Amino acid sequence: MTGGAPLKGEIMIAGAKNAALPILCASLLTTDPVELFNVPDLQDVRTMLKLLQQMGVALEFPNPNDRSHLILQAKEITSPEAPYELVKTMRASILVLGPLLARMGRATVSLPGGCAIGARPVDQHIKGLKAMGAGIQIRKGFIVAKIAEPNTRLQGNAILTDMITVTGTENLLMAACLAQGTTILENAAREPEVGDLAELLVKMGAKISGIGSDRLVIEGVPTLHGASHHVIADRIETGTFLCAVAATGGEIVLKNCRPDTLDAVLVKLKEAGLKIKKGADWISASMSGRPKPVSFRTSEYPAFPTDMQAQFMALNAIAGGASRITETIFENRFMHVQELNRLGADISIEGNTAIVEGVDKLSGATVMATDLRASASLVIAGLAAQGETQVDRIYHLDRGYDRMEQKLTQLGANIRRMK
Ligand code: EPU
Repeated sequence: MTGGAPLKGEIMIAGAKNAALPILCASLLTTDPVELFNVPDLQDVRTMLKLLQQMGVALEFPNPNDRSHLILQAKEITSPEAPYELVKTMRASILVLGPLLARMGRATVSLPGGCAIGARPVDQHIKGLKAMGAGIQIRKGFIVAKIAEPNTRLQGNAILTDMITVTGTENLLMAACLAQGTTILENAAREPEVGDLAELLVKMGAKISGIGSDRLVIEGVPTLHGASHHVIADRIETGTFLCAVAATGGEIVLKNCRPDTLDAVLVKLKEAGLKIKKGADWISASMSGRPKPVSFRTSEYPAFPTDMQAQFMALNAIAGGASRITETIFENRFMHVQELNRLGADISIEGNTAIVEGVDKLSGATVMATDLRASASLVIAGLAAQGETQVDRIYHLDRGYDRMEQKLTQLGANIRRMK
């Protein structure tokens, strides 16, 4: 890409990756069809669909030209297993564990390894399912789970996780829907994606109260039925494009988004100088001049999301002053720092804080993406840099963004995908 062009125009935001992934897994909880709209077309979704199909779930795209609308039906689950080959490419595969155990009474899921952003253990998922009566062993790298008494259901229980975990909450929530009795999830994640999953589950007949809070109460039911659901808009894709226009200048309109799920990010973007107008499902943003430096720390929802940390750092890199960014969710989510520095940024790391000295200009170079949000941050930096930037390993970007370079082209960016 060649930097320097201000972004101008209008694009549509896709459905949220991190809502779509657990929602696809919720189809395992019923023999009926589950119809989904606004599913983003990205690599992690394709991987999840492949995993579900391997288990015997039928997949249909009613309109072959529209991959955002699909129907899943898990009439029969032939193989309640998630193999290493798929789990190693996508940790969110762990989200099949709860539904499989609840529906089939057994599941074998490869244990995800560490990843580029941190160790990311799944001990809380396991602890919670054990509390619901599952027998769980780790054998040859696999989580082998089964309900001890054959032909019985998981048992509801009160579960307090040691930390707030998004996929952990989702796994336990899905399992609890089909358990016998009441489950109370304390310290539950409040991310909008958890709420969106819960709303689908309620449409499927689940009895859940406390949606949106950190205490979910689930009264188990023996079966769930089919439902139809529109996946919530991707707040991280929305925030990424807002950071991009704040870095390049210009004026953009994002449609089909949910500004109410982005409060913390919008506050910080306004501090940086972005002018924002919004309605229920759109945001328009304009920027002129150099961004102001903005310090922040990442935390669980509703605070500033870790999934926006790298993109905002690219913005701070060209701000008129110094800022401090503290990452509190993942221990190793600063891999983009070295690459941003290769583009001329001046960022140093002290423990879990990045100290960013804004520079006048970045200059284009070849850089390497290390994870999904790091790739987005390098794209933003490249769009603002002088000269040409090449981002390698963009398969990371394709995991989580629905046609990012097409949308940027639509906004007037000078960007192309190389073979
Ligand atoms: N943790 C544990 N034990 C557990 C679970 C979590 O120690 O059993 C720790 C993690 O290591 C981490 C913290 O708790 O330090 C929070 O992790 P969490 O479980 O909330 O993360 P996750 O569910 O694996 C989801 C998103 C991530 C996002 C995080 C935090 C999905 C599919 N993934 O991951 O999204 O960063 O929540 O908000 O929902 C991304 O989209 O780029 C991405 C990485």
